[in-house]
Order: sequence, then structure tokens, then C-alpha cells
Amino acid sequence: MSQPDARVVNPSGTLRVVVTKELPGDRWLRRLTAAGCRVEIVQGTHALGEAEILTAIGDHADAVIGQLTEPWTASLLERLSRAGGRIYSQFAVGHDNVEVEAATRLGLPVGNTPGVLTETTAEMTVALTFAAARRVAEGDRMMRAGDYHGWLPDMLLGSLLFRGTVGIVGAGRIGTAYARMMVEGHKMDLVYYDLRANDELERYVADYAAFLEKQGEAGVSCRRAASLRELLGLADVVSIHAALTPDTRHLIGAPELTAMKDDAILVNASRGPLVDEASLVRHCRTHPRFRAGLDVFEREPVMQPGLAELQNVVVVPHLGSATNWTREGMATLAAANAAAILCGWPVWPAAIDASDVAPFLGDAEPPHAAPSIVNAAELGLARWSG
Ligand code: DGY
Repeated sequence: MSQPDARVVNPSGTLRVVVTKELPGDRWLRRLTAAGCRVEIVQGTHALGEAEILTAIGDHADAVIGQLTEPWTASLLERLSRAGGRIYSQFAVGHDNVEVEAATRLGLPVGNTPGVLTETTAEMTVALTFAAARRVAEGDRMMRAGDYHGWLPDMLLGSLLFRGTVGIVGAGRIGTAYARMMVEGHKMDLVYYDLRANDELERYVADYAAFLEKQGEAGVSCRRAASLRELLGLADVVSIHAALTPDTRHLIGAPELTAMKDDAILVNASRGPLVDEASLVRHCRTHPRFRAGLDVFEREPVMQPGLAELQNVVVVPHLGSATNWTREGMATLAAANAAAILCGWPVWPAAIDASDVAPFLGDAEPPHAAPSIVNAAELGLARWSG
């Protein structure tokens, strides 16, 4: 296979970094060139397969910055390591496409980009929630088709979410940000399902409830469901924020959909395979009052047959993190991870939100640290201590 077409930046750099897609902004490039890297950016928009990535790596690469659409299998990671690779840096916070355990066995750090996606993805989840609840896409289609012939009392009636119950499956960074938006903005009661209690979230909702009560308003509540089934039965909106692992694949299938209210809303902006799409299609066909808002799909970019015909489903193409600020931030963090490992720098403390990674995002000299290495502990990498 011939070398893929690439844009080369800083050709005289001594460390070869292969980047499998063009990334937004140019701050990320400055981080790499300042570290003495020659950066080769593969051109084109299709998702690269293993063979194409190997060709791009060639005989030697010090680092690769890659995408969530690529198969970072044990064999590919091994080939990167054999080609002199010292880090695989993913342009994403999720890394279910990377065999991290294999990377750890190879002594290869895996970078990711937490912190900068949290609010952005939570906002998209809110957008999908209301697009589904208030039938925004159906209304848009009606207008464009010239089918709006005047206001009617019973046209495209949706669901009021104010003071309803929102359920989140997974109370990590993004789930928590979404929950807070729904609780604070729409005064919804919160029920969450997570293997670990989120004391901070529970306290936050309790404080907000006390604030509302002080204003003479009814409070809001938060509780951790004992089981997924319990949450599904209680919530008017169920939003999924779990990581994709072999255990969570098809977390929501036919029995779980049946356990939800007939007019509930299911939102998924985390990973497609968490939902059994064939069952979702069947459920939406037989439950016209049920609605779904999907940002991610089981076999992206392919859509499950039947999904596109369903009026009660809103679909967008994996746009959760698609704002300029976030994507430029992701690029900067991915580059900072690669540059830091190549320079032998330690690892930054875990990032929860944007304030934790803010020192990496400005134009000032960033800390001499890797913002986020998912297998740092397993590899025994030194921690930044200021
Ligand atoms: C991620 O970073 O994992 C997101 O899915 C990108 O939007």
C-alpha cells in the first residue's frame, strides 16, 4: 500500500508524529512543533482501517494521534510500539476502540482528552432531549415540506418536562453535567443509576432544593436507584452516560425499553452499542408516544434499518462534542499528551472539568505535563507535582 497523502508541518522536526486526520485550530500544532516534532497529517475524511494506519506509520513513528473511528487493536498497538511509538494519543475522551490493556502490556501510554467535552456534550444531550420531547425535527420537516397550513390545537403535541423526573444511567462527568442542567433549568427530580454513589451530585441537588424552598418554591429531589429497572420505571427522560465495555453493550434492550413509561424519552449521546438498536426500532414502531434522541449509533456511520423512517426518533451524526472550543481543546490536549510523553514529562492530575485542564488550553506556555494518560497508574508514570 502506498503512503497516504499527508500534510507535513515542521519537516525538520526530529520526532515523527503521525496524525490520522486534520484537527481543528492550530494551537495543537504549535504544541507539537515546540517539542521538536515533525507532524504528518493524513489527508482525507474516511475512517482509516488498520492497514492504512500501518502504512501511515511506516518504518518509524514516535507517536500517533488517532481517532475514535479507528481500530486500535492489540496488533496495531504492537506494530506502533515496534515502529518506535512511545504513545498513542486519542483525539477523544472515550477510548472503547483502544485495547488499553494491550497498550499497557506493551508499556505504551494511551492519551485521551477529558474536561473539554463535559458541558458541550451535556448541552447536546439537552438539545436532543427537547428536540424529542417537543418534536422539533418533525416540525422542521413539516415546515420544509409545505405541510403547515395553520395553527391547530392538537398539532404535534409533545411532552412538558418541567418538574418531571430525569433519569441518568451513569453519573460521571457528562451525566452529572446533564443532570444539573435538567434539574437546575427545568426543576426536574433526579434519579440516577451508577455502581458508585455520587455524593457530590446528591449534595448539590439537596442544596439547590433548599435554595428553591427558600424562594417559596417546591424543592427537587435526587436519589440513587437500586437497579436500572427501578430508574427506567420512574423516569420521564432516561439519558445514558455509561462507558461502553463488554458488560454495558446492549444495556438498553427490549426488556429495558418495556420497563420504561410508554411516553418516556430515551437519549443516547455516549456510545451507540449501549442500546440494542433493532429492539429500539421495534419499540418505537409499536409505541408511538415513546421518543428517542440519538447522537450515536450501533454501527456508525450506518443506521439501523427502520430508524430513519421513525417520526418519534431524532437523530444527529455524533455531534456531542462538536463546538469549535471543544474540538480545538481536544486537539490541544491530544497534542499535549503526545508532546509531554515524548519529552519525558509527568502526568497531570485527573481532569474532571474544563477548569482542571485550563492551563493547557490558553496561549501561555502550558505545564510540562501530559494532561491525561488513561493507563498512567498501570504504567507507574510519574505524577506532576508542581
Ligand atoms: C468522545 O470524545 O469520546 C466523543 O464521543 C467525541 O464526541
